[in-house]
Amino acid sequence: MVVCFSALAGAAEKLPHIVILATGGTIAGSAAANTQTTGYKAGALGIDTLINAVPELKTLATISGEQVANIGSENMTSDVLLTLSHRVNALLARDDVDGVVITHGTDTLDESPYFLQLTVKSDKPVVFVAAMRPATAISADGPMNLYGGVKVAADKNARGRGVMVVLNDRIGSARFISKTNASTLDTFKAPEEGYLGTIVGDRVYFNNRLDKIHTTRSVFDITGVKTLPRVDIIYGYQDDPEYMYDAAIAHDVKGIVYAGMGAGSVSKRSDAGIRKALNQGIVVVRSTRTGSGVVPPDASQPGLVSDSLNPAKSRILLMLALSKTHNADVIQDYFHSY
Ligand code: SIN
Repeated sequence: MVVCFSALAGAAEKLPHIVILATGGTIAGSAAANTQTTGYKAGALGIDTLINAVPELKTLATISGEQVANIGSENMTSDVLLTLSHRVNALLARDDVDGVVITHGTDTLDESPYFLQLTVKSDKPVVFVAAMRPATAISADGPMNLYGGVKVAADKNARGRGVMVVLNDRIGSARFISKTNASTLDTFKAPEEGYLGTIVGDRVYFNNRLDKIHTTRSVFDITGVKTLPRVDIIYGYQDDPEYMYDAAIAHDVKGIVYAGMGAGSVSKRSDAGIRKALNQGIVVVRSTRTGSGVVPPDASQPGLVSDSLNPAKSRILLMLALSKTHNADVIQDYFHSY
């Protein structure tokens, strides 16, 4: 479905054209009561309802809307990510499109923006927005987040900053931003690296640029790609069993991300499992379950290291890396550069 909302004649020529792609999530969630902030249905409302809820968008841009999916983001898959990235690339290749805003669930907002950061071949703005309260709630955060996302995408200084995530007036980078709290509105943070900028009143304040390779400089090209190699995450903990690796091997995974303890520490049991996987030609990357910080190279431990990518983001990069190469040195370099 495509819905077009044109700005007033005369003003339209001066305003940028921003396309909003809807994928579902709590921002499109609906509950029976306006006090209900749990147990609601995510991905219940369509793109036209989301846009109509914020008529002020027309003062910022000429808006078009498309429904790509309408799901809770826990059900996001590589197939939907590929569809989304193909669509964003096609839109941004057009002269008449100046930026894209994507509405998405918060639960896997660590992953989808980072996938687009690696696979979109344009320096035009791509901005993800989401919400922690369903659209039917008192003080729903979705409409203001959508307004903020379009404001950022329409800003003349937004180009070339990689894929951004806008919630609560803050602009995060897809590379670093992460959901840090299961339920609070201010859940999206980058504890070590901070934000790219903020929105205050009518103005967007950009403070930082990303020092990682992304979008137009990324080597990852999904043109013609229809599936991605399977990569699983195995969590490290006291008593973690070796049989998780046997299961991954039996399911023919091409890569494993180990969500390690501390700076990627490996128990004796996981050490045996990882070495078994490596012997089968599976690429293993050690990350950390701590939520922030760097996993440094350590010759005494098996596998590659994730740099500062958390396990969910590491999985995205490893899927794309394995679609290009199995060379361990090259893949390690990707983890330090992207
Ligand atoms: C989802 O991720 O789709 C549900 C939760 C949310 O959007 O906050």
